[in-house]
Amino acid sequence: MCGIVGYIGGRSASPVLIDGLKKLEYRGYDSAGVAVFNGDVVEVKKTKGRIADLEKKLSAEGISSGCVGIGHTRWATHGAPDDVNAHPHKGGNGRITLVHNGIIENYIELKIMLEQKGYKFVSQTDTEVLAHLFDFFYSGDSLKAMSNVMKTVRGSYAVAVLIDGRPDEIIAARKDSPLIVGLGENENFLASDIPAVLKYTRDCYLLDDNQMALLKQSSVKLYDIDGNEVHKDIYHVTWDVEAAEKGGFDHFMKKEISEQPKTVHDTVTPRIKDGKVVIDELGLSDEDIKNIGTIHIVACGSAWHVGTAARYIIEKLARIPCEVDLASEFRYRNPIIKENDICLVISQSGETADTLAALREAKSKGARTISIVNVIASTIARESDDVIYTMAGPEIAVATTKAFSAQLCVSYLLALKFAKAKSLLSESDEEKYCAEILRLPELIEGILKTDSALKELAKSYADSENVFFIGRGLDYAISLEGSLKLKEISYIHSEAYAAGELKHGTISLIEDKTPVFAVATQSDLNEKTLGNIKEVKARGARVIALVGENHSAADEFADDIIRLPEISDFLMPSLAVVPLQIFAYYMALGRGCDVDKPRNLAKSVTVE
Ligand code: AGP
Repeated sequence: MCGIVGYIGGRSASPVLIDGLKKLEYRGYDSAGVAVFNGDVVEVKKTKGRIADLEKKLSAEGISSGCVGIGHTRWATHGAPDDVNAHPHKGGNGRITLVHNGIIENYIELKIMLEQKGYKFVSQTDTEVLAHLFDFFYSGDSLKAMSNVMKTVRGSYAVAVLIDGRPDEIIAARKDSPLIVGLGENENFLASDIPAVLKYTRDCYLLDDNQMALLKQSSVKLYDIDGNEVHKDIYHVTWDVEAAEKGGFDHFMKKEISEQPKTVHDTVTPRIKDGKVVIDELGLSDEDIKNIGTIHIVACGSAWHVGTAARYIIEKLARIPCEVDLASEFRYRNPIIKENDICLVISQSGETADTLAALREAKSKGARTISIVNVIASTIARESDDVIYTMAGPEIAVATTKAFSAQLCVSYLLALKFAKAKSLLSESDEEKYCAEILRLPELIEGILKTDSALKELAKSYADSENVFFIGRGLDYAISLEGSLKLKEISYIHSEAYAAGELKHGTISLIEDKTPVFAVATQSDLNEKTLGNIKEVKARGARVIALVGENHSAADEFADDIIRLPEISDFLMPSLAVVPLQIFAYYMALGRGCDVDKPRNLAKSVTVE
């Protein structure tokens, strides 16, 4: 996601825009730019890097002191973070200046159409398509042009536009990406989020989807997609600035947990077309896939848990042998990489030192490298042969949640793609699974609604000193993640075990009231896990069973039960992980821990 701002009033726009962008930097920070009217034309200054880099550029080069402008801080989704791809973007012969937050799904077909009409593109962004498209539709009526743009594009957007020759207005619109209008005294503001305007006003319009806004210095008018004026009540903000950056949540982690439906949607939707998996970023032909020897999956921490899950799923569906390695181990064990082996690297930051080193080790031994990364043009992304981006947006909390979920989804899509290439997946099954994957956002949304019950559950375990997680197969992978979430933010000792492993030693640790999370969502393994539940119950454990909604036996043996909607087993990790994230969050909160910045940890471990 990105941050956009706009200002129209009596002040010099540039400082107001920079001020607002700084409050939105948590939304994206790989490049930034501003555009300000200088008389009748618009001046643009933009740069790769953070807003501080943009400030340096402005102080070195200067910019108009005009009182109308727009600005942008970017989280790259299409095109590397560099000066050319930074926003604002120009449309037409430069008469249109536009900033955008969102993803235009049909930008390729629109770009082809516009090029055929003679438009010349300079960037790799979907946003430049919007700028030229606005120009294409603009013939003097800015609202009509915006309306036509909105009716033509597919995807998500919050856009703000300046038009040469119209220095007394800003036109904006939104669909799926947030946009608010700040209402001042003889001045008005535009922003992706409330923090950017709070310094100047607490009165806002919160635009709804498919609405346009026309800002002038002394008026703001709102319209529907057809240009009919609409009325909205003024929203008076009661938050403080810091709370507002978290969208009203107390912590970024909670905000990011709540963003998972959108993150999953944004990651899978562009890669499922008409019931088929389409991963354009993958440079492997079906023949290449058929010839894959072994897939070496390497990652660290939670990303390694995704890799552990991916291994079960890929082997189950595509029957390709997988090995999963901690990157810090892989890089030093002189791994055996054979011809046609693949190295699948998973990393949110794309900068984790051990994972980067493992990637280089695999490449040095001839493996083709595929990475699943969240940060566009990060080092791991740049050094991989193929990179499949998760569209999670900036993840601020140290404990990963939304990026984890997005990585899981990419793993599902890869497994289906591989299975299809090897003729192990029928058309009807592919359609069925794609339909289920597209339902994940709504199912996750439903689980998020059980927040208060999970908060109460955490309270009842608040004094726990040791918490165990057990599961088999994919449930074991999710147990690993649930245990790490709890450990890293609440500092409670926790371990995850393959449920079948307990009797080989660990069960000696189980004593009266020891909390044990039993993750049992895999229909073919539930009976076995039930046996393990009985084992620990017999030794006095307090069992929290995380099961599908139709799992009846759990009632008999578990002290607490968390029930999940049931979909195909291999997709259950996306649902099972959410209650574990929320449980860990409230356990940490109950202990007064710094949830977003746990002690001793960093968001990206760029050192060995
Ligand atoms: C997860 O909550 C942790 N913050 C940590 O384990 C993290 O997953 C690990 O450091 C890998 O980071 P990466 O995904 O950026 O490579």
